[in-house]
Amino acid sequence: MQDERRAKNRKKSLMARVEAPDLKLDAGACVAPVPSDPCSIVILGATGDLTSRKLMPALFSLYRNGGLPDPFIIIGCGRTKWTDTEFRNRMADATRPTGEENLARWQRFSEGLYYRTVDYRDARSFADLARSLKALENRHPTRGNRMLYLALPPDLYQPAATNLGQAGLTVEHQNSNGWARIVLEKPFGTDLDTSRQLDQSLYAYFREHQIFRIDHYLAKETVQNILMFRFANSIFEPIWNRRYIDSVSIRATESLGVEHRSGYYESAGVLRDMFQNHMMQLLSLTAMEPPPRFEAELVRDEKAKVFSALRPFPVDAIQDYLVLGQYAAGVIDGRPVPAYREEEGVDRRSLTPTYAAMKVYLDNWRWQGVPFYISSGKRLSSKRTDIAIQFKPVPHSMFRNTLEEPISVNRLVLGIYPDECITLTFQTKNPGAAVCLRTVTMDFNYQQNYSGPVLDAYEKALLDCMLGDHMLFWRQDAVDLSWAFLSPVLNACERCTDRAQQLHFYAAGSDGPVERQRLLGTSPTQPS
Ligand code: BG6
Repeated sequence: MQDERRAKNRKKSLMARVEAPDLKLDAGACVAPVPSDPCSIVILGATGDLTSRKLMPALFSLYRNGGLPDPFIIIGCGRTKWTDTEFRNRMADATRPTGEENLARWQRFSEGLYYRTVDYRDARSFADLARSLKALENRHPTRGNRMLYLALPPDLYQPAATNLGQAGLTVEHQNSNGWARIVLEKPFGTDLDTSRQLDQSLYAYFREHQIFRIDHYLAKETVQNILMFRFANSIFEPIWNRRYIDSVSIRATESLGVEHRSGYYESAGVLRDMFQNHMMQLLSLTAMEPPPRFEAELVRDEKAKVFSALRPFPVDAIQDYLVLGQYAAGVIDGRPVPAYREEEGVDRRSLTPTYAAMKVYLDNWRWQGVPFYISSGKRLSSKRTDIAIQFKPVPHSMFRNTLEEPISVNRLVLGIYPDECITLTFQTKNPGAAVCLRTVTMDFNYQQNYSGPVLDAYEKALLDCMLGDHMLFWRQDAVDLSWAFLSPVLNACERCTDRAQQLHFYAAGSDGPVERQRLLGTSPTQPS
């Protein structure tokens, strides 16, 4: 008991917690700008999961925080035959406004909600939608500004985009009013060729400035913070390179399984689902050069340069650079969970990877020789997203005759989930007569001293699209470069003759296949 208490106290004393000064933040100081352009938001796929779970709650939350323009209308579209009233009721169920004030607000918000039945493969259906939209726009003067959100399965992106174009819904006017923006989510194709085909069909009716490719990781506060941390402080940038950094580890683990998305996930797997997009964005923010100004195109230029610097994956020595895994049955939070192959809709002999750990290099001046370890997987012990920067050891230890242990290296962790924090570990003297070192931690909690409204990722993405700000969206060249890097890896993995041998099973609730140690274990970069 005493030992336990002592251990606890010791642990506490190792945390040299540095309180951020009371910043006296004004809750209203950093609130998002309100879009000035009235607009219509057309959601294709309004009867689906994404609309009820993410989009509608995000739009209502924006409305409550004054983040929607005046006037706005939301036109839900789907194949199901619903009336406006049915749509409003379904959305109320999904959003569950509670309390008198929220109910009154929902009432006002829902007056701007409409529903139209649309068959995504039928041009006439879109012509009807265009007529209907014009009539609504006459009633609510949204000045012809339209956000067209494809909350659809990816195989419907091309027919829907083409039909929107043919119905004249994508035309922009010369003056500042009458913009048309299309929003779509990954997957942007399944490899380089299919991604290019998708672009071609989008470019038939949209220009690049009209296209908003969402990556919800970019809209996370702590992900956006990476650029502020790196480029609004002068002390980190001089050491942010191969001279001082030994390795970088980027991980996004989840305890959830494939859920109800086996149809999509079976052909995607973790590399398309997480690496082509989210992990690549985290890599680019960590590795990019400072742009001259904080402007969307300049930031996106620098990110594209990171992708261009990715060393082509050595597909003939794949085992040295990539470990793939799939979850077997196990226990999570004390509850038994099935193996991936036992999930509904999954092939009993599926070879789809649900875990990957990859080592990549960037061939440029700043990062030559520094390994980036990227890992992500489902049904792991916990949900965690972070970036760990491991610094080099001291060049020479003057304590080598006095200390028994080697000196631990410095490490900086940018926590994205669940701890939204920045943590730096360093060495200090342990109090007492003997010469002993102790590793202490300085940490900053992102939400500390802030009590204002926080926009969730979808709120931020929707708001930025209304504002026409592309900062947090993928540009076509970067999507191409990311696929150009990953497609040969996918080819090599999916076409190799020993595909089954390359897939390592791990128990749900564990930290991944033991084989990952082969890659990640060589460097202590995996944050604990
Ligand atoms: C999505 C993936 O893009 O991101 C999912 O399709 C994954 O498979 C999710 O679960 C993870 O997002 P977050 O924000 O929960 O880390």
